[in-house]
Amino acid sequence: MSEELIPETPEQETEENEAAEPIKQRKNGLYPGVSDELAENMKSGWADTELRDLEPIAQAGHTAARRAALSARFPGERLVIPAGNLKTRSNDTEYAFRASTEYAYLTGDQTQDGVLVLEPSGESGHEATIYLLPRSDRENGEFWLDGQGELWVGRRHSLTEAEQLLGIPAKDVRELAAALAEATGPVRAVRGHDASIEAALTDKVTAERDEELRVHLSEARLVKDAFEIAELQKACDATARGFEDVVKSLDKAEATSERFIEGTFFLRARVEGNDIGYGSICAAGPHATTLHWVRNDGAVRAGELLLLDAGVETNELYTADVTRTLPINGTFSPVQRKIYDAVYEAQEAGIAAVKPGAAYRDFHDAAQRVLAEKLVEWGLLGDLSVDKVLELGLQRRWTLHGTGHMLGMDVHDCAVARTETYVDSTLEPGVCLTVEPGLYFQADDLTVPEEYRGIGVRIEDDILVTEDGNRNLSDKLPRQADEVEAWMAQLKG
Ligand code: GLY
Ligand code: MN
Ligand code: MN
Repeated sequence: MSEELIPETPEQETEENEAAEPIKQRKNGLYPGVSDELAENMKSGWADTELRDLEPIAQAGHTAARRAALSARFPGERLVIPAGNLKTRSNDTEYAFRASTEYAYLTGDQTQDGVLVLEPSGESGHEATIYLLPRSDRENGEFWLDGQGELWVGRRHSLTEAEQLLGIPAKDVRELAAALAEATGPVRAVRGHDASIEAALTDKVTAERDEELRVHLSEARLVKDAFEIAELQKACDATARGFEDVVKSLDKAEATSERFIEGTFFLRARVEGNDIGYGSICAAGPHATTLHWVRNDGAVRAGELLLLDAGVETNELYTADVTRTLPINGTFSPVQRKIYDAVYEAQEAGIAAVKPGAAYRDFHDAAQRVLAEKLVEWGLLGDLSVDKVLELGLQRRWTLHGTGHMLGMDVHDCAVARTETYVDSTLEPGVCLTVEPGLYFQADDLTVPEEYRGIGVRIEDDILVTEDGNRNLSDKLPRQADEVEAWMAQLKG
């Protein structure tokens, strides 16, 4: 028998409401004193806005299956998965909230401070409960006098509405920490999202056991279900439109800076999705050789290349991760094209190696071999053979990073999956990864011809493993050099 964490009889709920302290004045004095008359006035005269007979969210069936897999992995243990809290940016302003991947994956919900609890129940199963802040109490004034009140932050779902939408019984999160502190039996929690939940569990959990839970939730996401694949396609399509926006406004970027590119793409991400999935890399000229150039404060000059690495995150929190390297004036110079074509050829080899049954490492090895061949052909590695270069890894002075990674709700998805389930694994249908070779010649690299210096090229696409090969989810954006030029000419008009 599982213990009930929270008592839920109607009598007790009523007693709690009656016992609640009225809120009349904020302690920081931001609001003037509230007269008894005003406090009384604000209690009533509000319509019943409860929504009834709501349809479940589109992914409710998928989240139920994901919770069932989690339940089967940890029988008899209480599992606690928080959404996380707002993070302070400065003083009393916060960063935009983004629910933890683990919580959103298992619930389809994105409410700040929410917590999913799976309680052991029956022989080997679990009962799920989602703990949320309910609608604001009007009797005690919290809805208009408390900073978390709905008058300040917007309407929330009632617990009943949340239950209908998510298909998970819902309870008041304000009572969860105390209940967890008193609960007995084995428990695991996903760490790093909610300090109050961790504090309540501090003497009940161990880092090692919690890490096993985190690893399971990372590995569970290696193979995407149909809902997730559709979301990734949506993210790639919106990202393609964001890249088009950027090309159309390159003249404005030339008149200002890389920031114009960052802002242009961000507008598309916010209009079509939740956000950008990671800081956009808007790297013009030599900035393209800095792998994570996100300062984006440099000049955009005709004749140079723009390396744009950006992805829209959908409203359900799936992100694209796409890079195109574009000639700012619309035409590659001969040396730019020579380096671009080498990277394109490497990417083609990498994409061709993505298929069911292939080793995960194959696409990396295929792309690196092409790049090593080019570097040898160009005379940058003396008279070493390609095999010797690869054995010693000498090409990496200019290729710098791995050729790709899993993609999903996190841009570097499944990041704590074990080596045997990720880099040492075999690809299967439903895996989604990036293929993103690059060549980067630093502006101060004296080992390469002067004309190469300051050129960085990466081409990155999002590739889904299918039953018979792969599908490029980001193929709405051209990659081949002539096609890139034609596409830019058409957009620039
Ligand atoms: N945008 C980071 C990456 O491509 O992995
Ligand atoms: Mn990227
Ligand atoms: Mn990437």
